[in-house]
Amino acid sequence: MMLHIRPLSDALGAEVAGVDWTQPISDTTVSAIKDAFLTYHLVCLRSEPLTPAAFAQVSRYFGEPQIQLLRNMRVEEVPEVSVFNSTYKSAEDKPADLLFDRRSGWHTDDSYFAVPAKVTLLQALEIPEHGGETRFCNARAAYEDLSTDMKARLDGLRAVHSYDTMRAPARAMKRTKEEAEETPDVVHPLIRTHDETGQKALYFNSNRTDRILEMEREASDALLDQIHTHMTQPQYQYHHAWRVGDVLMWDNRSVTHSVNMDFPPGRHRIHQRILLKGSVPA
Ligand SMILES: [Fe+2]
Repeated sequence: MMLHIRPLSDALGAEVAGVDWTQPISDTTVSAIKDAFLTYHLVCLRSEPLTPAAFAQVSRYFGEPQIQLLRNMRVEEVPEVSVFNSTYKSAEDKPADLLFDRRSGWHTDDSYFAVPAKVTLLQALEIPEHGGETRFCNARAAYEDLSTDMKARLDGLRAVHSYDTMRAPARAMKRTKEEAEETPDVVHPLIRTHDETGQKALYFNSNRTDRILEMEREASDALLDQIHTHMTQPQYQYHHAWRVGDVLMWDNRSVTHSVNMDFPPGRHRIHQRILLKGSVPA
């Protein structure tokens, strides 16, 4: 098999084909994929569905897996892998306005932690025939396109990230008392410098960023709304139509994501997820 890497869109993303992920991978292949990942912010590893153990093995080529917050989603025998079932069990589970499904909100994973995961690996195990795409925004390009004045205005601003914020239309998943104790509010810069590439990106999570420090709520809301509108413009977006087995590996330091939750009730949509340990955003 031959390693083949090609861009997926003008906005971000590259496809990686020609690798059998059930076999050991050479250093040359890993290094080519890492380069593509830093260039395109997201890679799609075409694969067959993997066992949780094989999936964890793949993730270790790219970093160190981190045990995820919500205990009830962890796979017992491989706890660094969590299973996400986004199937609508019945018609009543699907809101008329999809914004009221939490997964529709643009976010970067786990920004409610002081040290958020740098990378997410998500593999499709079952997907609906249509709908259910995961959408991505290039937060680095969105930052780059800001006016000089706006860059200067945002420079040095810091924002509170909470497990939940009333700014988001839909509520976060329930936490146990133990999980709540592990997730107090944290503060992150609004502009984040990538610790590997040195590139700057907007670091904003519409499900978790609650307010900008040292700013009145009204002014903070207006500025966060403006950032949200800017970074979700179509030219920054790539929508991934899943094939079963696809592993998407994305950079939480430079992209945000959301889900097109428009698919029929009863159609299974199931993924397994691994997060890789990151560093303090700066
Ligand atoms: Fe996510």
